[in-house]
Amino acid sequence: MLKEVIRKEVEREGFITFDRFTELCLYHPDFGYYTAERVKALPGEDFFTAPELSPVFGKVVARHLEKISQEKGIPLNILELGGGKGFLAKDLLELLPVETYLILEKSEVARKVIPGVKVVGSLEEIEEFSGFVISNEFFDAFPFKRIVKRGGKLYEVVITLKGSELKEELHPYSGNLPCEPEEGCEYSLFIGWEEFLEELFRKFKRGYFLTFDYGSSCDSLKVRKSGTFRAFSKHTLIDNYLEFLGKADLTSSVDFGYLRKILEGHLVNVSLEPLSTFLLKEGVERFLSPEDVVVAVTLLVDMGRKFWVLSGVRGAYRR
Ligand SMILES: C[S@@+](CC[C@H](N)C(=O)[O-])C[C@H]1O[C@@H](n2cnc3c(N)ncnc32)[C@H](O)[C@@H]1O
Repeated sequence: MLKEVIRKEVEREGFITFDRFTELCLYHPDFGYYTAERVKALPGEDFFTAPELSPVFGKVVARHLEKISQEKGIPLNILELGGGKGFLAKDLLELLPVETYLILEKSEVARKVIPGVKVVGSLEEIEEFSGFVISNEFFDAFPFKRIVKRGGKLYEVVITLKGSELKEELHPYSGNLPCEPEEGCEYSLFIGWEEFLEELFRKFKRGYFLTFDYGSSCDSLKVRKSGTFRAFSKHTLIDNYLEFLGKADLTSSVDFGYLRKILEGHLVNVSLEPLSTFLLKEGVERFLSPEDVVVAVTLLVDMGRKFWVLSGVRGAYRR
């Protein structure tokens, strides 16, 4: 059981950091949420991602990629980061004359056989690449620390033991922070984005980068008293996450200022806009039918306000 794994590690080390805790809860090979639990669930059983909700999302993305491909002469080679169960891949393959489609997915069990798609588990398996790198809800699925400010000092939440039960504790934090929480507030620091993107862009030579995720700017994240860390199980927000080890999605909001800054080191013409703006610009209404009221409201209002679209160009294009 995951509790045993975590308990043993805490006993050995004295405590585990929250990013290590989220890594184990989400990606432990036998008991992790993404590696063992969510893959069993039907689409949307714990939460819906936009491609799982409706093919309308894929239709809009397809239109955008086709437009960029024609404008800039970028070949329709697609690398999808964290492709999960492959919903977006299936939709895009149906709509676009894709040359190659590659999914990077670290959860072995999530990797379904989709005709026309090659699935790899790590960036090491990818050769030099030119084309489109796309992702939905990928950067929010990295492990993260929870940093709080109390009495003017920074602390990180760690997991320790009280008897045989796991509990939170605060330890002083002196590492770097792209965004400092205000007094009494909590900020989630995703771990591994910089290294991952460094490695990705060693392979990704030319093309277009596009990512969708929920999040905000430092200005709004640093004033959140209870932070943005959330645990979900079966569509319900739970507060006793220590009792749902490996059974709940542990997630937090993406700091788009931080992500944008990293990406600006690798891309040009970086742009950030709300999902609702992106969908309307790409003519989402043309893909919606009268039966799609719930889809329209979810995509345009609910996700539309919380999600952002970050894009940029890799390498030089004349057109
Ligand atoms: C929230 S899910 C989103 C799945 C899919 N993109 C969608 O929209 O339905 C995030 C996915 O990213 C995968 N993932 C997270 N970090 C990864 C990494 N470093 N390399 C490959 N896959 C990763 C997870 O296993 C999970 O399947």
